[in-house]
Amino acid sequence: MSRSIKKAVFPVAGLGSRFLPATKAQPKEMLPIVDKPLIQYAVEEAVEAGITEMIFITGRNKRAIEDHFDKAYELEAELESAGKQQLLELVRSVIPKNVNCMYIRQPMALGLGHAVLCAKPIVGDDAFAVLLADDFMQGELNGPGVMAQMTTTFAREQSSLLGVQDVPRAHTKQYGIVSTEPFAERLEKVGAIVEKPAPEHAPSTLAVVGRYVLTPRIFSCLEKIGKGAGGEIQLTDGIEALMQYETVLAYRYQGRRFDCGSKLGYLQASVEIGLQHAETGAAFADWLGQRG
Ligand code: G1P
Repeated sequence: MSRSIKKAVFPVAGLGSRFLPATKAQPKEMLPIVDKPLIQYAVEEAVEAGITEMIFITGRNKRAIEDHFDKAYELEAELESAGKQQLLELVRSVIPKNVNCMYIRQPMALGLGHAVLCAKPIVGDDAFAVLLADDFMQGELNGPGVMAQMTTTFAREQSSLLGVQDVPRAHTKQYGIVSTEPFAERLEKVGAIVEKPAPEHAPSTLAVVGRYVLTPRIFSCLEKIGKGAGGEIQLTDGIEALMQYETVLAYRYQGRRFDCGSKLGYLQASVEIGLQHAETGAAFADWLGQRG
């Protein structure tokens, strides 16, 4: 098993029902924050972490994701002949040349654990990252992104890592929740993990966000577990099984998360990135200020 993480899995087969009708004919991962789709932010976070093999677990209606990371012949030819060099560079730089994109179809939406299991033939015996694109993560100003923090931590600890943050107790029903013991700075040893507990049953308020680094033993664990919460094969249950063999650590990331699986989080991310954006930032801040 390699010490460094080179492969990332992006489960993108979900229906995006919370964003209907916007997601009727396009993947929710293609919804833009200002001018870049959510999936591109997640891929950029993985690239920054030194990951070069991007594995997308796709489903029906997800062709736009493949097209987005592919060469766009007609568009590039038109931009070139129109002398629009800057836009041409923008379109060509969506994915760096040393990065490979691979696609596996998940025939049925059988859950996040099942989606990750679909990546087994490509991931093989390597530790790997999982990024859920609708958790939009930003590292601290001038600091490393969240996945880069996690791959650095993995290189040192060689244990599976779950990105975590504290959430209000009323929100535990939306997350995998862990109970932990102190381990090291920003790291806690996971003692138990439960998928989407009701607030009164949650063992803590420490929630798993959509960033994971997992050892390959997760695959045999996912193969053994049955259907869990919601009748789906849950990654959370696979991680619980993994804990019987290996230490699993919770990592309190440095940075911010926007839950772009919800309308409110999506709007918040759009405002924040709009304010940070080189082209729109100043004018947008003025406009927001004038609105009071
Ligand atoms: C999934 C996982 C959950 C995790 C969450 C993070 O849930 O099942 O354990 O806390 O992602 O966003 P979903 O948001 O897909 O319902």
